[in-house]
Amino acid sequence: MKYTRREFVKIGGLATTSLLVNGALNLKSGKNKTGTSKPKVIYTWDYGPVPGKTALALIDKGKTSLDAVESAIKIIEADPNVLSVGYGGLPDAEGKVTLDASVMDWKGNAGAVAFLQNIKHPVSVARLVMEKTPHVLLAGEGAFEFAIENGFKAENLLTNKAKARWEEWMRTKKLKEATHDTIGMLAIDKNGNLSGAVSTSGWAFKVHGRVGDSPIIGAGLYVDNEVGGAASTGYGEIAIKTAGSFTVVEKMREGYSPSEACKIAVERSLKYQKEKHWQICYIAINKDGEFGGYSLEDGFAYTIGDKKGIRLKKAGSLF
Ligand code: GLY
Repeated sequence: MKYTRREFVKIGGLATTSLLVNGALNLKSGKNKTGTSKPKVIYTWDYGPVPGKTALALIDKGKTSLDAVESAIKIIEADPNVLSVGYGGLPDAEGKVTLDASVMDWKGNAGAVAFLQNIKHPVSVARLVMEKTPHVLLAGEGAFEFAIENGFKAENLLTNKAKARWEEWMRTKKLKEATHDTIGMLAIDKNGNLSGAVSTSGWAFKVHGRVGDSPIIGAGLYVDNEVGGAASTGYGEIAIKTAGSFTVVEKMREGYSPSEACKIAVERSLKYQKEKHWQICYIAINKDGEFGGYSLEDGFAYTIGDKKGIRLKKAGSLF
């Protein structure tokens, strides 16, 4: 990071004002503080190298960070073996697959869908909400109708594998294995512009109608092109109560590194935790391409991709 928090606070007064003015100029040029732009992607968990390689290849061809994150996330949404996103996602308590997704770009535009059923690519519907309506969030039946009107086809998203897990849960009311949770990706393109997207089928066997953090801008995703971006995975209720992704970005604005900012957002969750910890994890990237992640409980990893390749990083944790 360019400035430690202590240095940033010490600068104070006029110098701080000039930093902010420079920040505003950076927004216009789309470049980071060093005037260079190094394409980079960061995404939650170990979803393998394909999403990262896909996003970086698109950026290399001159596509925007928004195109990159959308295309990468669509790969995971279409994968029937991923039990927590899109097609193949575990259903709610009524056996219905209900999906949440959002996107946010470098211009501050945002779009989201919540409680969307029978549409394989909620991330693309979220993008269309952003691009074709004056709104940010469409939910349920309205989101579905909007998708159909815009050429998406209705599909059954409940695979036999997910149905079998739901039937087992109905018998035992116990989930034997933890699921992967949300895919969230943040990218910087050749122009130094940041975008992010998230997509999930949410908490397995949730109450019908439950919406998580992923479609809530500021909770599951937040991007400010002057500063950086953040995305969350884990129990969405925690990210909503703490405005988690917004908190991460605001802490980076104050001068904290991406990892430090994620840690602060995780620490904020402590007052909402009960006897059993609800895992919450964040990834973040700043305008200079510095990245990081942090989680409440051990076990969270994230993937980073740039010209050095795609690699998995273990995140730090409070417990
Ligand atoms: N983080 C995804 C969810 O809670 O729905």
